[in-house]
Amino acid sequence: MIEFQAVTKRFDDGTVAVDELDLTVDPGRITVFVGPSGCGKTTSLRMINRMIEATSGSILVDGKDVRQSDPPLLRQGIGYVIQQAGLFPHRTVLDNIATVPLLAGWNRAKARKRAEELLETVGLPAAMGRRYPAQLSGGQQQRVGVARALAVDPPILLMDEPFSAVDPVVREGLQDELLRLQGELDKTIVFVTHDIDEAIKLGDKVAVFRTGGILAQYDTPAELLARPADEFVANFVGRDRGYRALGFLAASGLGIGELSGVRLGATVAQARAALRDGWVVVVDERNHPCGWLSADHLSSVDDSAAVAADLVLAGGSLYDTEHGSLRSALDAALSSPSALGVAVDADGALVGSVTADEVLRALAAARTAGEVPQ
Ligand SMILES: Nc1ncnc2c1ncn2[C@@H]1O[C@H](COP(=O)(O)OP(=O)(O)OP(=O)(O)O)[C@@H](O)[C@H]1O
Ligand SMILES: [Mg+2]
Repeated sequence: MIEFQAVTKRFDDGTVAVDELDLTVDPGRITVFVGPSGCGKTTSLRMINRMIEATSGSILVDGKDVRQSDPPLLRQGIGYVIQQAGLFPHRTVLDNIATVPLLAGWNRAKARKRAEELLETVGLPAAMGRRYPAQLSGGQQQRVGVARALAVDPPILLMDEPFSAVDPVVREGLQDELLRLQGELDKTIVFVTHDIDEAIKLGDKVAVFRTGGILAQYDTPAELLARPADEFVANFVGRDRGYRALGFLAASGLGIGELSGVRLGATVAQARAALRDGWVVVVDERNHPCGWLSADHLSSVDDSAAVAADLVLAGGSLYDTEHGSLRSALDAALSSPSALGVAVDADGALVGSVTADEVLRALAAARTAGEVPQ
């Protein structure tokens, strides 16, 4: 779908930003460009839509050299999202999203209707459409940026560090949202970041660049972690790559322990009777976990009192037995106040428990089975 063939960019001052880049971006997938500051990620990205012209080599989109396309026409098929969203401050959110459809010649009513649909697609309430960008949070602005880029339904989306200006929690939410959206849209996405965790989470394939615009490795995240091509990549993916690699191991062989919960609204006497090793997990009426109670902090509460939400200690992350990886099982165990990770089914209902020991056993089994390269 997008092909770089020996692409070099030398700026007028002699800086070689991209050096003989050969790379094929898979259609309908997320390809991430990652690397240290100044390694040529943005330059590579902008050569795709001709915001920057390559010095030599060719870039093909759908088999056609981008130099043969008229830039405005080329860009209609390529959405572009940048850091801090780059919204027009004096236009409302809806008008921002409708910008490209209007440029593409849509009438006002159609462009507006499309903008309203897209607000919903990116998870923003309709009422926000009338606000101005400054009246939105950073995360909401980024969503508007994504909506604007999707407005004329381009098959390709270029995203240049779109989430780096927001705090880590909002950022995780935006990443999850992008993965959810991509599940529905199947765009060809090229995503630039300097955050290896973001690259590994989002990328179907990841291209690691080193300074001087040299492609150091282009692989799936799992391969990158398991078999870094050289010292530079190994350092870049980090010493904790073994831990990251857990994210790619299906937790199918993982033993799930029995764990019964006590309902919100039950009596403290019932909760006390259900304690195992000093802890009991609390669930709501749908059997969804809402946290923990410990023998310690129940000791001062009356037997006849009800188990109320304000008594419950926040739990850790949950392990989804249907989609979760070994990493998420380990996260669940390590983040739980009781040291028992809480396992749930795809609907979020309590299934049982996992322990860190059990995760390590499953990891050892995967090693023996040759699923984890040393
Ligand atoms: N217009 C320009 N003229 C000269 N050099 C430039 C120009 N634009 C970028 N460069 C240089 O090209 C190299 C690559 O820049 P680029 O913006 O592609 O890096 P990047 O990987 O996106 O970095 P960052 O992570 O900081 O955004 C850098 O050394 C940069 O200074
Ligand atoms: Mg950049």
